[in-house]
Amino acid sequence: MMQQIDRDAVKQAFASYTANYNAEDPKIKLKIDHTYRVADLCDRISQTVSEVNSDLSWLSGMLHDIGRFEQIRRYNTFSDAESVDHAVLGADLLFMDNLIDVFGSYNEHCKDVLETVIRNHNRFKIDEGLSDEYQAYCKILRDADKIDIIRVSYDTPPEEIYNVSSEELRRASVTEEVKQGFIEKRAILRSVRHTPVDILVSHISMLHELEYPISIRIVREQGYLAKLLDFKSDNPNTQDWFEYMRESMRGV
Ligand SMILES: [Fe+2]
Repeated sequence: MMQQIDRDAVKQAFASYTANYNAEDPKIKLKIDHTYRVADLCDRISQTVSEVNSDLSWLSGMLHDIGRFEQIRRYNTFSDAESVDHAVLGADLLFMDNLIDVFGSYNEHCKDVLETVIRNHNRFKIDEGLSDEYQAYCKILRDADKIDIIRVSYDTPPEEIYNVSSEELRRASVTEEVKQGFIEKRAILRSVRHTPVDILVSHISMLHELEYPISIRIVREQGYLAKLLDFKSDNPNTQDWFEYMRESMRGV
């Protein structure tokens, strides 16, 4: 039997937890807002997936980035490469240090789903051998996270997400391997991204990775993909590349 999940209580617990961190810091604010949006997206996507419970999927969204707050406090960066894997940190805090208890008392099944989903949310590929149910929870959260990354990528000044000025972003060229990833419609590894605009291309390319039809519908509905594709570059090669991407994503 699926247990009850009190969404208001979870939201309150999340607000109290994050109140320990500096919400004046735009990085913290961004992650708080991202969390609520991802949880709502999980809720919405999960309504179309028969294997899952929407409350639990919503909760996975609420908790998926909990490690971000300690990551920022300890290392002042969101870069996992320069600090720790935020998914591992979050899952360890929740399920080894029992931070989960702050968000309600859950049965073993719920905790196991949450831990698996959180640990898998930022991996290049999800663990093999997971049941259909676990896979569905993982895919929903990963879709929700990507949908919001596409939005944040448009909404946030480049200084904040790419650590570069708008001028640098406009001058940048796209790395060949990144282009190849887009053309082959596969996930673009962080390690092949070298220029600021590579990150933008990889965000656009995330559309190819979405698992559920409703996820693609939501991206279309939000209109952010078209805006990202409309990026104005000062670099002629990059301009040509964006023209190519607009063509190939026509109708999306
Ligand atoms: Fe995350």
